[in-house]
Amino acid sequence: DNSLPFVLVIFGATGDLAKRKLFPALYGLYRTNLLQHHFAVVGVGRSPIGQSDFHQMVHDAVRTHSRISVEEREWMSFIGRFEYVSLDVKNAEAYKELLSVVGKKEQELGRAGNRLFYLAIAPDLFGPVTNHLKSSGVASAQVGKRLIIEKPFGHDYPSAKALNEQIRQSFEEEEIFRIDHYLGKEMIQNIEVIRFANSLFEPLWNNRHIDNIQITASETVGVEDRASYYEQAGALRDMVQNHMLQMVMMTAMEPPSRLNTEAIRDEKVKVLRSLRRYTEEEVRHYVVRGQYREGTVNGKPVPGYRQEPNVNSESLTETYVAAQLYVDNFRWAGVPFYIRTGKRMPKKVTEIVIRFKDMPNIYFNKKGDLGPNLLIIRINPEEGIYMLLNAKKQGTDRDVIPIAMEFCNNCGQESPEAYERLLLDAIQGDSTFFTRWDEVSLAWKFVDPIRKAWERFDLPLSFYAAGSWGPDEADRLLAQNGAKWLPVY
Ligand code: BG6
Repeated sequence: DNSLPFVLVIFGATGDLAKRKLFPALYGLYRTNLLQHHFAVVGVGRSPIGQSDFHQMVHDAVRTHSRISVEEREWMSFIGRFEYVSLDVKNAEAYKELLSVVGKKEQELGRAGNRLFYLAIAPDLFGPVTNHLKSSGVASAQVGKRLIIEKPFGHDYPSAKALNEQIRQSFEEEEIFRIDHYLGKEMIQNIEVIRFANSLFEPLWNNRHIDNIQITASETVGVEDRASYYEQAGALRDMVQNHMLQMVMMTAMEPPSRLNTEAIRDEKVKVLRSLRRYTEEEVRHYVVRGQYREGTVNGKPVPGYRQEPNVNSESLTETYVAAQLYVDNFRWAGVPFYIRTGKRMPKKVTEIVIRFKDMPNIYFNKKGDLGPNLLIIRINPEEGIYMLLNAKKQGTDRDVIPIAMEFCNNCGQESPEAYERLLLDAIQGDSTFFTRWDEVSLAWKFVDPIRKAWERFDLPLSFYAAGSWGPDEADRLLAQNGAKWLPVY
């Protein structure tokens, strides 16, 4: 029910995620009139700050990070809904105060509605916090309740399972919204429309017409100040287990019976079930791990990963992964999905390239130089579709040249932030673009053997210069099949 009021309780309200993403997203929704609801926000944190300090903090965060500039005259009507509660989240007793604040907010709103709990805190607190929410009655059964959580959701399948069992003691699966912020990106959500609304694409979307698919998510930044997390995670857990596999699922899934939440998520899960799992021995041939050495990014010299603050000087953590994946079903049998992601690469870009098969070698391809047709789905920072076709060069008889057709999704108007889309979905109870438990578990079951193979065998960690497109081994990975990474468009 869209008219129901809600109280959003943000745990970790003085933290980085709240400041950089959540407060700005709420403000973006508010200013674009998407929050028609009566609502209140309760920020929970350890620091003993007062209300006015909290309000000032939210103001600074929104001013610094929001895509929409602050309208000072209207600011009070927004910030007036925010209240801060300082509590030790591990202390069950402390939840009494939270309960009374939430109750007070609901009274002010006129009636009880949904209670949303956003855990922007370390995952080892998910269990205790959800327990206390339940036993204190803050997450009571009389009102609708939802839990929104962020990755990392475990660090392998067994730990994810244990974590899930903990939170399932207090929340039902339908009440749990696991965020993968890639699913909130406009162009990721656009994939199903591009695929299923165009007769030009869907008939060709299979192994008869597609040669391979390449998915790149490259970043120019290094580990930044996140070494304590990243040293444990590495690119495999940080990017592949979630974002990269989500892009594979959206690209490869079968048309769902309806465009509703569970039908879509069922089809995505089927992709993961068909995803070929590598034995530890096969990992050697199908997966490459890399780590950046010093180099130059955007004209600036930068240190290698091992020289970054708080990184072990002999660290084996991968900052780059490339892999060759196979979705072993009828549609995709034999079509490689090449994925790569890394830090300290030359350009920030996320894109999916569909490389169609070559034309028969009859008229134009005598020299073997006829380029392939490409469909490029640009996710970030540019958003849109770019198609590469062949046509006759003007004024010649039959000289073939590549031509491009392009659609830009965010040229006229800026797209909403992923967190705006996802927060609104969670508020409205739509979990289509959130990760279901079986998705999470299958994703871990795919990456776990890769991690184990790296730990157990003497598999090389390949180095690449910061500012390059990754280690040479990533080129060899494709060369095994006579393929090449296509340039980023
Ligand atoms: C996060 C990772 O999930 O995604 C980061 O933890 C990474 O390491 C980020 O930088 C990339 O997201 P985006 O939206 O900038 O592509």
